[in-house]
Amino acid sequence: MKRVFTLLLIVLVLSPVLKCQPAITGMYTDNLKNPLGIDSRNPRFTWIIESADHDVKQIAYEIRVGKTRDIVAGKPVWQSNRVSSDKSVHIKYGGTELEPSTRYYWQVRIWDNKGNTSSWSELSWWETGLLTNDNWKAKWISPQEIENINTCYLRKEYSLSGRKNISSARLYISSCGMYEAYINGERIGDQYFTPGWTSYNNRIQYQVYDITAGLKQGTNAIGIMLGEGWYKGRISRNRYGSELAVIARILIKYDDGTEELVLTDDSWSGSDGPVRVSDIYDGEIYDSGKEIEGWSKAGFDDKAWAGVKVQDLSTDVLIASVSPPVRKHEQLKPLSIFRTPEGDLVADFGQNLVGWVKVRVNASKGDTLILSHAEVLDKNGNFYTANLRGAKQRNIYICEGGEQYFEPHFTWQGFRYVKLEGFDNDPPADDLVAYAIYSDLEETGKFITSNPDINRLQQNIVWGQKGNFVDVPTDCPQRDERLGWTGDAQAFALTSAYNMNVNSFFAKWLKDLAADQYPDGNVPVVIPDVLGKSTSGSAGWSDAATIVPWAMYEAYGDKRILEEQYESMKLWVDYLVNVSNNLLRNNGFHFGDWLFFSLDDDNSGRSAVTDKSLIAQCFFANSAGIVAETAKILGNNTDYKYYSGLTGKIKNVFFDEFVTPAGQLVSNTQTAYVLALYFDMLPLEYREIAAERLVKSIKAYGHITTGFLGTPYINHVLTAEGYPDIAYQLLMREEYPSWLYPVKMGATTIWERWNGIKPDGSFQYPSMNSFNHYAYGAIGDWMYKTIAGITPLEPGYKKIMIKPLPGGDLKMASGELKTYYGLIRSEWRIREDRFALEIEIPVNTKAEVYLPASSPDLVLKTTGLEPGEFSSLQRIEDGKVVLLLGSGVYSFEILIKEVI
Ligand code: BGC
Repeated sequence: MKRVFTLLLIVLVLSPVLKCQPAITGMYTDNLKNPLGIDSRNPRFTWIIESADHDVKQIAYEIRVGKTRDIVAGKPVWQSNRVSSDKSVHIKYGGTELEPSTRYYWQVRIWDNKGNTSSWSELSWWETGLLTNDNWKAKWISPQEIENINTCYLRKEYSLSGRKNISSARLYISSCGMYEAYINGERIGDQYFTPGWTSYNNRIQYQVYDITAGLKQGTNAIGIMLGEGWYKGRISRNRYGSELAVIARILIKYDDGTEELVLTDDSWSGSDGPVRVSDIYDGEIYDSGKEIEGWSKAGFDDKAWAGVKVQDLSTDVLIASVSPPVRKHEQLKPLSIFRTPEGDLVADFGQNLVGWVKVRVNASKGDTLILSHAEVLDKNGNFYTANLRGAKQRNIYICEGGEQYFEPHFTWQGFRYVKLEGFDNDPPADDLVAYAIYSDLEETGKFITSNPDINRLQQNIVWGQKGNFVDVPTDCPQRDERLGWTGDAQAFALTSAYNMNVNSFFAKWLKDLAADQYPDGNVPVVIPDVLGKSTSGSAGWSDAATIVPWAMYEAYGDKRILEEQYESMKLWVDYLVNVSNNLLRNNGFHFGDWLFFSLDDDNSGRSAVTDKSLIAQCFFANSAGIVAETAKILGNNTDYKYYSGLTGKIKNVFFDEFVTPAGQLVSNTQTAYVLALYFDMLPLEYREIAAERLVKSIKAYGHITTGFLGTPYINHVLTAEGYPDIAYQLLMREEYPSWLYPVKMGATTIWERWNGIKPDGSFQYPSMNSFNHYAYGAIGDWMYKTIAGITPLEPGYKKIMIKPLPGGDLKMASGELKTYYGLIRSEWRIREDRFALEIEIPVNTKAEVYLPASSPDLVLKTTGLEPGEFSSLQRIEDGKVVLLLGSGVYSFEILIKEVI
């Protein structure tokens, strides 16, 4: 009894300490959670700290890394010892040289500024890939030619040394084309479209799978399906090789320390099979009569199969995967299945999504099911596919009879509606399920307001991101493009980084950008580059070379991206210097302010055409400025001086060439003023004039007129220049052109055009009218930064600005962002004469919090602050009460005298 009492006393005495003890609640290795197979020799560690206390910062950390779960007992390969530092993001591994194909465990503990120490974190791990391509040993193999069939099946059986216990088994695999791998009849992993899309002539990713559980004593079998995918299908436009190929290597480690390898070589066999044709644009033809029972199981008789060809391909192009793979996500049931006026049987999934439909049927042998996909119905309610251009988006299944399930391989569709043909009876809704399939990126953002249309807009932005972040950032997921258009990606990069953790996704894509960059520095307009040089160099497209790395640095504080991209960034700007006429970029090919507001029969000249050289000059200066800033961050002073000087010169040329003495730009358009202001192209005294002219243009039109290049910045510029009310007017407008017009028309994704569907239900230009194009979704960046008010003041949110801006008809807005430091939250509400703000600031960061009150007297209530703390912390800046706060949850109630 006495012991129990003593124990209780200890617990009671310790509990306040325990409560304030910081804890490690999230861990990343090279921005990924427990990655299997990374080739970095210095992976970087990031950890998230949580504490119930306020104003908590890390003052020191200690990391240990080892090859066994008990790191200390198993001889650590690195012990950082206690390092006095407030850095908890991207800490480089500093131990002994890493071995290939090895699992490393790591953990961390930290000390905080309140005198508390965390416990050692849970174990996190990563596993090295092959580290060097010499380790592959396997050969690239291809199927023998199979006429008219563009997919194939490969197999091999192998016996494991008897009586030894397997401690681990890994499959390392890559392909020219897409693969699906099977061991003993089971599909390996849950990834799709592997090995992903890269600049195949330079880099092909490989994946690593843990297959320990799938192996058995005795004879085992491995089967691999191959399809054309991005490598050889229509989408590749013949830029890569002419034959499908695969390379695979199974590494089996036994308890006694011995190892065994199973490799692709000339002993494999190949055959055709049920997938007869597969193409990203066109879909699949599957003949279940050709199914091969047990083909990937041991004991299957493959005597009738052909041999394989060993290809003379190098392993030099192989790289470990760095970005999260594509996986299945949401499952949607049809909202309804109905007959259109033209008599088609159509299932409506209620959401424009990207993936495919899995169908269950009970059909007769030889019955053929055809599933065609469309994003919209026409104004009469009929199935509409003209906007898909040359992409068939159609899966055809030939039935064997009895109950069967079908879903396609190596292809996907962009759709809300599916036309069903060949079904004996109208199928019940339960027989169809649509899977959304996209890169498995951690969802990091939430944004919600009191206005359902704005909420729908946010959902549309997120769905647009899901559907177009399928291993590469694409323009659209449905018609015969689906390419990594650089202009779209740079416009949307910052918004995407709020919604999901896109750090590794873009790190991968940027390496492909650098790989596909031409030796003279010119940057293709699609990455991976399947279009060739003719369109390269376009302003605002090729500038993705600088804008995207910089966006990633802003969002994640990831210096490595800057280091890795630096040469490419410089090369692009040097190229611009070379091709310009004494720094005037009045030449070259440009898409311009793509899809700006324009009229068909424009006799009065109201189309908002912005001079392409003016645009190009702005992006030129911006890119040079980014290179200058990057040079500074990387400690390259010589480059910093050169590129910052260069930026100034480019701006001077802009001023001489494009600005009248009265401050009018040669193109008196919204995009011209927006770019000039956002990229800081004008001397100070001209800024106000430019902002006034911008506002005048908006008032004259009564709406936005910008295209892909001006749209991401217009509301930022209006807010910064003192016109937040106009920014809100643009956002809340419901008629064409505006962000809410598509929402009012029932959109469930972002449209390519402001008026993809006209008010009368008819379509704009069928040949270029995607209903899932994220570029205009770039407004999301403003919604998070300005409405919710969450902005990084230092890269990666080490220092945050929380500056919410109420406006429009909004009575409430809430933004959340999961950063590498933890969750940032900013949520405000207006009730009668009170404005209430609740915020959350993560441990190890600081936030400048701007309250929408011009004087401290208007702040009626605070929570989370010590008594008297508010008055000592507050200062007035920018006409607002500002506080510098450390971590914690705080709330404020403000008397609304004026909304500021
Ligand atoms: C794509 C765009 C792309 C553009 C270039 C289009 O076909 O869909 O989004 O940026 O071409 O202007």
